[in-house]
Amino acid sequence: MSSGNEPERQPTEEEIAAMSRDELVRLGGKLDGVEIVNYPEPWPVKGTRAEKRIERRIALWFTIAALAGLAFVGVLIWWPWRYAPPSNEDAYFWYALYTPMLGITLGIAVLALSFGVLVYSKRFIPAELAVQDRDDNKGEGSAEVDKQTILAQLADAGERSTIARRSMIKRSAGLGAGVLGLGAVALPLAGFIKDPWDNPQSPDSLIHTGWMQQFPGEVVYLRRNTGDPEEISLVRPADLDAGAMETVFPFRESERGDSHALSQALRRADNPVMLIRLRSEDAQRVVKRKGQEDFNYGTYYAYSKICTHVGCPASLYEQRTNRLLCPCHQSQFDMLTYAKPIFGPATRALPQLPITVHTDGYLIARHDFVEPVGPGYWSRRS
Ligand code: FES
Repeated sequence: MSSGNEPERQPTEEEIAAMSRDELVRLGGKLDGVEIVNYPEPWPVKGTRAEKRIERRIALWFTIAALAGLAFVGVLIWWPWRYAPPSNEDAYFWYALYTPMLGITLGIAVLALSFGVLVYSKRFIPAELAVQDRDDNKGEGSAEVDKQTILAQLADAGERSTIARRSMIKRSAGLGAGVLGLGAVALPLAGFIKDPWDNPQSPDSLIHTGWMQQFPGEVVYLRRNTGDPEEISLVRPADLDAGAMETVFPFRESERGDSHALSQALRRADNPVMLIRLRSEDAQRVVKRKGQEDFNYGTYYAYSKICTHVGCPASLYEQRTNRLLCPCHQSQFDMLTYAKPIFGPATRALPQLPITVHTDGYLIARHDFVEPVGPGYWSRRS
């Protein structure tokens, strides 16, 4: 307790009960060997204009926190959050702002709340200067007198901070913290409000890609990216050597000459597909996925290039081992066993695109993937 040479006499319980809070504060300091060198009142003259100004400034920070917190909840619920393809420029613009707006509003709310607390502690909490000897409690619990004096010191600090009489600050701080708390509650609940599956037929749904036919019978070709979106280079089976791999994208005749749609088809995140031509000796050993036995065309297999771990482009194809490596976290996929992961953090096989050859001799997609490409999400069905 005291570190002085003279052992301090411990007051009795009756003496403690009879002490005022000020006396308990002083006693607590004395027993702990604390010497208060300076304990100035931050605002010795109450109610000055300067004090009011600071008070309003703090309330302003808390109000900003509340407004930003409300904006966060509003963005979370009402902002256009559904995926919009880049081809729909207006919708894509607003959709692309969804995540940044969540970050910006939440960031402002937290920052404003922190500034309010900082300014309050700097301008209203007394800057006490005290010196205390190092204490060695030797693991013994606190005596009753310590508990009481600590409580008194805390209450004293609270009173000296003048929070009790600053109703503007209390109300604005409560509002700011309350709205932020509301945001914290709304965040996990948001997933129950929004159902990404409510329109699975939409081409923009998470379960569809640019390979989806936009009308029955539409032919969707496999095209390579030559660097010029307007140059249409379709793929014939004979274009690939055995053991070769090429990245392909969807092309539909309705987009020919439409430079915007053509470049969007090359940019859409879930479009890239790896077209692999297996060597015939390797093709003999292929294990096909149940229900997808006819997704390949001879020795040609097409798989989504988007890693099922967290969505990096997995494109390091090793011809000798027929393995595909994702460079992000080293997941490896066995291309002879329906692109099943055999190493690393990915847990799902790469989705396979069903392909065939059209009457004009070019490779086409028979239909879209039968499962979502890329990483999993919480309401994914497979
Ligand atoms: S994204 Fe491919 S292993 Fe992580």
